[in-house]
Amino acid sequence: MVRAMLRCLCMLSTVVLLAGCRGPQNFLFAEGTAADRLARLGWIALISFSVVTVVVWCLLVAVVSRRRGSFGEHAPVDTTSGINWIIVGGLIVPITVLSTLFFFSLDTLRDFPMGKLMHPAPSIRVTARQWWFDAEYLDPSLPNRFHAPTELHIPAGAPVNLELVTADVIHSFWVPKLHGKVDMVPGMTNRIRLQADHPGIYDGECGEYCGMQHAHMRLRVFADTPADYARWKSRQLADASEPQTPAEQRGKADFMAAPCAVCHTIRGTDAHGTVGPDLTHVGSRTRIAGGMLVNNTANLQAWIVHAQSFKPGTQMPDINSLSGQQLSELTLYLQSLK
Ligand code: CUA
Repeated sequence: MVRAMLRCLCMLSTVVLLAGCRGPQNFLFAEGTAADRLARLGWIALISFSVVTVVVWCLLVAVVSRRRGSFGEHAPVDTTSGINWIIVGGLIVPITVLSTLFFFSLDTLRDFPMGKLMHPAPSIRVTARQWWFDAEYLDPSLPNRFHAPTELHIPAGAPVNLELVTADVIHSFWVPKLHGKVDMVPGMTNRIRLQADHPGIYDGECGEYCGMQHAHMRLRVFADTPADYARWKSRQLADASEPQTPAEQRGKADFMAAPCAVCHTIRGTDAHGTVGPDLTHVGSRTRIAGGMLVNNTANLQAWIVHAQSFKPGTQMPDINSLSGQQLSELTLYLQSLK
């Protein structure tokens, strides 16, 4: 019985550990400077708590599996004989483990520059909204600012300072492999230094319950090689490209006539809305709907017509005034905005 229980426990813990290792958002396998420090703290906590757990389970199993007998076969319990166990297990071990972790935490905190005097000043402002992230590139060396909703690009191997704010309720910026959670609080500006050691795509999400669609508020950080980053930036700085085919031109006209232009901006056109994400380069993004849907034709059309079914409560209304042809031309136009 006891052996079967132990076997079960071993299998269960192996499955849990392996499942954790595979996740693209596992903070214990960090890929950035800030996340590295947090991962180190995480490993210390994980190992010390695991050791304590294993010892407790061994003691429990030893007690349970001891040969049992009747009350008569045992000497009366001496109430003072367990006092050493209580002192060691209830005082010395918790105090040692918790105070060690406390000092490691303080030491880790010193490595996070979050103050107002961050140098250089943050070059990207990330604003959280219900329910999407908006990155605004405000580096003074840029000829103009631009927005990159849901997907933000940084150069790999270089530190980038970020400003984190919210436009409505409390959210939390969390890209586990690059940085720990940092809250985005109304009326407050938080600052972090983000760095990805290698080029790649790092998934993140909102880490603080912020309303009905909190679970669908996602974020992707693309760490590019210097050449890719320069190419991406110069494309984003440009205004939207002009529609090339007659279908795309009709799609653009429908965009301007439908409610779309009231809520979205497409730089270089008459669409100046700021309620929803900037769509100037929507065709170059991998996700839409705050990271919830892959950016392909089917999802784009479904999102335009049935946003409220995908993400009830979102500010994007169901646009059902378009004919089938108008919908496909509108989609072609949006996909041409690379
Ligand atoms: Cu935003 Cu949860």
